[in-house]
Amino acid sequence: MFDDNDFVCRHMQLTKADIIKVIRDKNISSFEVLQDETDIATICGSCVADIEEILEDEIAKREV
Ligand code: FES
Repeated sequence: MFDDNDFVCRHMQLTKADIIKVIRDKNISSFEVLQDETDIATICGSCVADIEEILEDEIAKREV
């Protein structure tokens, strides 16, 4: 698991906290929209599974 200040996407220099902020601010529910907003995972793509997990966690929190 990542801490808030860990880079999840090293290529785009995005930490877990950065990603969560964008997801919450823009109420994002899909990976494609998140990618449009941030260009996340557009270089090597090795971060995709971790980003999807963070996004799913955030969506699940909304539904509580
Ligand atoms: S680590 Fe995210 S694109 Fe390479």
